[in-house]
Amino acid sequence: MAKQTTVFVCSECGATSPRWLGRCPSCGKFNTMAEEPVAPAPAAKQAKKPAYSAPRATPLSQVEYRTYERTPSGISEFDNVIGGGIVKGSLILLGGDPGIGKSTLLTQIAAHLSQEHRVLYFSAEESCSQVKLRTERLGLSSDNLLLINETCIDGLEAELDGVEFCVIDSIQAVYTEELTSSAGSVGQVRECASRLMRIAKSRGITFFIIGHVTKEGALAGPKVLEHIMDTVLYFEGENQENYRILRSVKNRFGNVSEVGVFEMTDRGIIPVTDYSGIFLSESRGEEAGAIVTPARTGNRCMNVEVQTLISKTSFGQPRRMPLGVDYNKLVLLLAVLEKRCGVNLGGFDVYVNVMGGIRLNEPAADLAVCAALASSFYDRPVDKFTAAFGEVGLTGEVRAVSYAEKRVAECVKMGFKKVLVPAKNMKSMTKFMDKIDIVPVLYVGTMIKSLFK
Ligand SMILES: Nc1ncnc2c1ncn2[C@@H]1O[C@H](COP(=O)(O)OP(=O)(O)OP(=O)(O)O)[C@@H](O)[C@H]1O
Ligand SMILES: [Mg+2]
Repeated sequence: MAKQTTVFVCSECGATSPRWLGRCPSCGKFNTMAEEPVAPAPAAKQAKKPAYSAPRATPLSQVEYRTYERTPSGISEFDNVIGGGIVKGSLILLGGDPGIGKSTLLTQIAAHLSQEHRVLYFSAEESCSQVKLRTERLGLSSDNLLLINETCIDGLEAELDGVEFCVIDSIQAVYTEELTSSAGSVGQVRECASRLMRIAKSRGITFFIIGHVTKEGALAGPKVLEHIMDTVLYFEGENQENYRILRSVKNRFGNVSEVGVFEMTDRGIIPVTDYSGIFLSESRGEEAGAIVTPARTGNRCMNVEVQTLISKTSFGQPRRMPLGVDYNKLVLLLAVLEKRCGVNLGGFDVYVNVMGGIRLNEPAADLAVCAALASSFYDRPVDKFTAAFGEVGLTGEVRAVSYAEKRVAECVKMGFKKVLVPAKNMKSMTKFMDKIDIVPVLYVGTMIKSLFK
């Protein structure tokens, strides 16, 4: 009988089975068995290996300090998001919806890098001629870019001589012959990714790996894929709109709150440097339920519009639908508004939307969400040149936030007339007094009075 080369392992409890099973017999979880290659035979049966030398512990003071060598990608916004340039030997995963422009972005970067480095584009999804067509359409000078159109990853290592950067398009389309499961399965994705990691770390090659996302928007494949990577990026945006947002969700070499804004044009993906105003609507200030907040994204601040809509609940349970704001945060703010300010939205469905697909995950956005909700409740629009920021506590108190000066400076830059800031941030506001009307807010109730009463 042929020797079995793969085994199915439960990703939850580690139980093994020679065949695939829908339900793990050990822990009882469904759909957790993934194929893996069988571990090599015990050492005694193998040819004699060199003796294993155990690593010695080193005091921290004697550890050699290595600075990370960073290479510019040619796209400034991309460099910003990954922390200031591409770190040698790192694994960068780029996830995004179909057709969002993942291949376009990485072709542009690969073409730029190929002017001075040896770059390999491993295309498992598109033929070499398709990639060439794209580089010509985008007008890229990429004569030195090496292309492979292949789906089996087993021969990749032999092609990597002298290569410094390699693009894998995409991890779900490649497979290794060690496993019998089809490309894109959990086992294949995990095995291919860990093989790329070994190559990256042992040979100092940087890999850009394209990954697909599931319908829910998470990266398809096992969670371990994200654990292996040094940097995980999401490329997002509405397909109809031309703006794209590049967001880092994990970065071993930099800040994860930085976002990059790009525009999809027929010449490819172009970074947007003047992003002021693109996250604000045309009809701002005319309808109730919207206000602007200076949101911090990494080291920058940008003015973003928060919109809310309330409508009478027609079923028993009122709906809460936040887009760009955390669900639990919205529920908490609704409770604060009800208890502390008499804005009772218990009988209303509440919808919140942050313009341009920006996610406001920082507490500083709380006050703007409250203001927008109150504006909907009183059906009174907020002036289009008014902004608000501040963290809201359960007592209804508005707490100080970081980067207050930068936020106000952004409002001044964009010609805003009034900004509501936490009273506890007022100390740093003196230099803006003659440029903008600064309203200190100690409680959410004060803010509501100042805006609507
Ligand atoms: N000839 C063209 N002219 C202008 N824009 C184009 C042209 N061809 C493609 N595009 C744009 O490029 C986008 C596709 O880009 P790309 O192939 O990089 O996406 P992707 O994220 O790699 O998609 P997939 O998941 O299918 O690999 C299209 O949605 C379209 O907006
Ligand atoms: Mg593609």
